[in-house]
Amino acid sequence: MDRYAVIGNPVDHSISPRIHTWFAAQTGQRLEYGRVLAPLDGFVDVASRFFAAGGRGLNVTVPFKAEAAAWVDELDTLARRADAVNTIKAVDGRRVGFNTDGLGLVRDLQINEGFPLRDARILVIGAGGAASGVVGPILEAKPAELLIGNRTPDRAERLVARFPQAGIRAVAFADLCGPFDLVINATSAGLGGQVPEVDPRVVADALYYDMIYGRATAFTRWAAGHGARKVVDGLGMLVEQAAEAFNIWRGVRPATSDLLATLRAERDTA
Ligand code: ATR
Repeated sequence: MDRYAVIGNPVDHSISPRIHTWFAAQTGQRLEYGRVLAPLDGFVDVASRFFAAGGRGLNVTVPFKAEAAAWVDELDTLARRADAVNTIKAVDGRRVGFNTDGLGLVRDLQINEGFPLRDARILVIGAGGAASGVVGPILEAKPAELLIGNRTPDRAERLVARFPQAGIRAVAFADLCGPFDLVINATSAGLGGQVPEVDPRVVADALYYDMIYGRATAFTRWAAGHGARKVVDGLGMLVEQAAEAFNIWRGVRPATSDLLATLRAERDTA
């Protein structure tokens, strides 16, 4: 059977095996999908062994997405622009890197949430790996403006410099002011119980989208408490980026709505 896996550290709580097993059953594809834990300094070794043993594809998660981009034999356009890879496909003995995170986010927002990005005023908070993966597809959806705000302003400037086009700019936290239609948290701050030091008015009346999924964090509570119109977690993005990866590997696009409804119900009763 064709073998796939998610590689990361930590990886034991990843629900990607469940998502891809669901997709395989739904589309009638025969494959197995597991979890691969790589030591923090061992991504290349472990990934090389996986493919040498006949593995067909990997999803790459924290903290290896940038390393994966440097390691693969070939990068598709979105992965090159993001400088981060979340999906690797073995093609004729070569490893090709893709990034489906941004497409997953855009599909979740536009299709599942019914939120059109065209002409929207959007703020992305964060400028690390998670942010860089989503900027390209957001820009392709033609927002009125995309602002990147980061605690370390240089990093936001560097991210913006990779997208030499109108409509995107870096802004220091201190200079951020609303209103925004959409605020996307691409930082890891909430997990550590922290909230980035931005003016709470930036979320007033905005859709607040947190790329972290599954539980309320300090940041999601902050957004809800400061007038966000709606607070959405990254569960839909996770499912949609997986569907894009599945399509890259198998040439079949799985339907996502039933799975997403099931996972949401489980999350809400947990
Ligand atoms: P990831 O791949 O998850 O994006 P990363 O590349 O380490 O991880 O980036 C983490 C992001 O979260 C960065 O934008 C970081 O801001 P800095 O560049 O200033 O470090 C942001 N971040 C983490 N903790 C934060 C906090 N308490 N307040 C604001 N931003 C925070």
